[in-house]
Amino acid sequence: MKILILGAGGREYSIARAILNEDQEHEIFFMPGNGATNNLGTNLDIKDYDKLADYAKENSIELTIVGPEAPLVDGVVDIFKAKDLTIFGPSKEAAQLEGSKVYMKNFLAKYNIPTAKYIETASIEDAFKFTETLTAPIVVKADGLCGGKGVIIAQSHDEAKVAISEMLSGKSFGSAGLKVIVEEFLDGYELSMFAVCDGEDYILLPAAQDHKRLLDGDEGPNTGGMGAYAPTPLVDEELYQKVRDRVIRPTLDGMKKEGAPFEGVLFIGIMVVNGEPITLEFNVRFGDPECEILMPLMTSSVSDMFLKASTNRLSEIKVEFSKQFAVGVVMASGNYPYSSSTPAEIIVDEVHHEDVKNFTHISYAGVSLEDGVLYADGGRVLVCVGLGDSIKQARDRAYLRCGQVHYAGKKIRTDIAYQAL
Ligand code: AMP
Ligand code: GLY
Repeated sequence: MKILILGAGGREYSIARAILNEDQEHEIFFMPGNGATNNLGTNLDIKDYDKLADYAKENSIELTIVGPEAPLVDGVVDIFKAKDLTIFGPSKEAAQLEGSKVYMKNFLAKYNIPTAKYIETASIEDAFKFTETLTAPIVVKADGLCGGKGVIIAQSHDEAKVAISEMLSGKSFGSAGLKVIVEEFLDGYELSMFAVCDGEDYILLPAAQDHKRLLDGDEGPNTGGMGAYAPTPLVDEELYQKVRDRVIRPTLDGMKKEGAPFEGVLFIGIMVVNGEPITLEFNVRFGDPECEILMPLMTSSVSDMFLKASTNRLSEIKVEFSKQFAVGVVMASGNYPYSSSTPAEIIVDEVHHEDVKNFTHISYAGVSLEDGVLYADGGRVLVCVGLGDSIKQARDRAYLRCGQVHYAGKKIRTDIAYQAL
């Protein structure tokens, strides 16, 4: 198949890598891709979605897969579908599940899907009044997309009020913060669950855990994610079933009723409180770095799953997963997540260790290529992935691989998967 992948991260790299590992022949295009994806296919530079759809048409692209949320919220799926192209991802309307936290919270409430107690408002008085009904910590969220930074966990009522004022005045997040959600703090453990949906049916992937904080022991600022592992032993069959019955099924049925059937990846951020799954949020795409560890666990065809999901035929296939575990350790740049970093040359040692050769790989993200040299370009640079028969074995292998990658300012967490060990 000729496949186009939108995005530039490790997530998109890992999808392409999994597809190229299939028995069938495929040709991959990226828009825009990164400095390493041109080893897997062709990087394009066509930012206008209409022009990109025309390119896809002219070049007989059979399937387009959208990685990040921004193009989805901008309606890229609608544009491609209007030109009769097959594309994996939700429509602009369905993407509101991620694009607007207010839409998402109201949807959860309407369809009785368990979530934290909340108020959505543009009124500072109402927001302040609601905080008085909560005990600290108090969670304050900006409505729109803020690149993962729109959530403040305030440790006191005063801190919550400052966050509310700054959001509603447009000071902290511009127009994305002109409506806010104030909600109760849920105390439990967090999971990333992914359902690949075709509007009607879905396939639930093994549950993962991300590590959002920058530093070991879950200290420091929030990031896009510093590492992940799957499947997590923190989820048993009973919990999977609760998520199916209480979250995924009502969401797919509800979105159909709303006239916006959900196609694409439903990423459910879950807090497990006393054994009960509470939905923190939805995203409408794969998590990054979660995707990098889920893709290598799939033993059935990844491209076929995306194709069937995009053509409402998921019920025709069975998706299979390896019995192994995967651990992904993110290597970020020196100044991440605060500011950009000066590009630094990446040196990857030749691998001699059999285990490392056979059971690890790298998914490249924030890298550029210049005169044949790969540079760490800032942000999250790459993910070292280890596979193994246990989480410990997978983790040890991932860290062995990390030891063989070098660039100035390299930053990693050393405790990925600690909750499972
Ligand atoms: P969100 O963008 O809504 O996923 O929030 C980012 C992170 O903030 C989540 O992954 C959680 O770690 C944390 N968080 C969000 N809402 C809550 C809540 N109600 N209680 C506790 N932690 C939360
Ligand atoms: N790793 C979490 C996210 O992609 O939002």
